[in-house]
Amino acid sequence: MVFRELAVRFNSQLFLSQRLRIYRLRRVAGHMTAQKDLALDTASAQEKQLTDMAARALDSRHDAGLDGLVGGLDSVIISTETDNLVPATYELLRYTGLDCTEAFFEAESQSYVLSLPGSASLIIQSRGNAPNPFAIVNKARLTDHFPNTRLECFVFTTPDVEEYVEIQKQRGVEFLTPALQVSEHFSFIQTAPSPYTGNSVGLIEWKDTIRAYVPEGSRRVSPDISKPAYRHLNNIGKLDHAATRVRAQDRTAAILEFLSLTNYHYDFGVHVKSQNSITSVARRDKEDFAMVFTSGITPYTSDGASGPTEKFIQNYGTRVHHMAFKTESIEQTVATLTMDGMEFLLDLVGSDSEGLRQIFSEPSKHTLIVNEYIHRYGGFDGFFSKNNVERLTEATGKQ
Ligand SMILES: [Fe+2]
Repeated sequence: MVFRELAVRFNSQLFLSQRLRIYRLRRVAGHMTAQKDLALDTASAQEKQLTDMAARALDSRHDAGLDGLVGGLDSVIISTETDNLVPATYELLRYTGLDCTEAFFEAESQSYVLSLPGSASLIIQSRGNAPNPFAIVNKARLTDHFPNTRLECFVFTTPDVEEYVEIQKQRGVEFLTPALQVSEHFSFIQTAPSPYTGNSVGLIEWKDTIRAYVPEGSRRVSPDISKPAYRHLNNIGKLDHAATRVRAQDRTAAILEFLSLTNYHYDFGVHVKSQNSITSVARRDKEDFAMVFTSGITPYTSDGASGPTEKFIQNYGTRVHHMAFKTESIEQTVATLTMDGMEFLLDLVGSDSEGLRQIFSEPSKHTLIVNEYIHRYGGFDGFFSKNNVERLTEATGKQ
């Protein structure tokens, strides 16, 4: 087994590892340096340990027969309080490129599907008074009014959901339901909420080419919310990545768990000592949706001492912090979004020469989720530049 580790130290420390026998080496912005200090050694040792464990997780996945059983991201499921469902859906129509393609309800629940060709879909739902298996992971200091609000599930395609479930049950994976949810067009199942992230991983096997999410027993209705006809929304494209905040002590377990449930690999981690923050990236391939985990370097002690990431978890629990949308003409688009009432946590950061420009919105009052808008230049496939990552992390301290 061959690994390569590159260490880069500027304001932050960037570590990149690669399983050369499987994945090609990815480009890293920056220069190699031989300069070392104690912090770098500690972080470097942590990365070495994580990449070794991640490689073993991939070997275990391979040995279990899971290779090729999980595809790319199909959709994400976002739950809201009942009163927030329509405002949350309208807000996503107003501030992203996705359009409402489906609506359905049954006795307690109601759902809207937002789609865009080439992007994972967003399924926005409310459960009404039905039991919520995510209630326990939603509880935190500032979530009393949002007991049902969360991005709950990342749903990946599979060519054979029954085989996936059989193998994963033997490996001890717990699912939310004993049986598959079967409809005319798909079979679906999802895991129980993770003890490390609070997120669930869903698997969907499509039976044909029709992408209809209406479950068996639900009534499909004509969507009653329409998308505003704003031209600048054409600049906002696919769901590029999502970032989940996890406790410092759970970082490794959260990443390994995700690798064991999907066909993703661990790509790299960025340590930002000044913000007590590590941003870790898992990917399937360069063009695919990326899963980002953000954690503290050291566990929470107090709001003042622990930095914005660990403080966020105290306030809101472990959960998805932001969804990032690939955006063209980002300056003009952000200016127009601002005129349409969108508020941002900071100004646009980054530049052409750094490979990307990006910005965080204020968190939604209906979903608690931040929208990131990200524009990449010249095929840059990273998620931040060395100058941006500190400012972005610092800005989230306002939440
Ligand atoms: Fe991001």
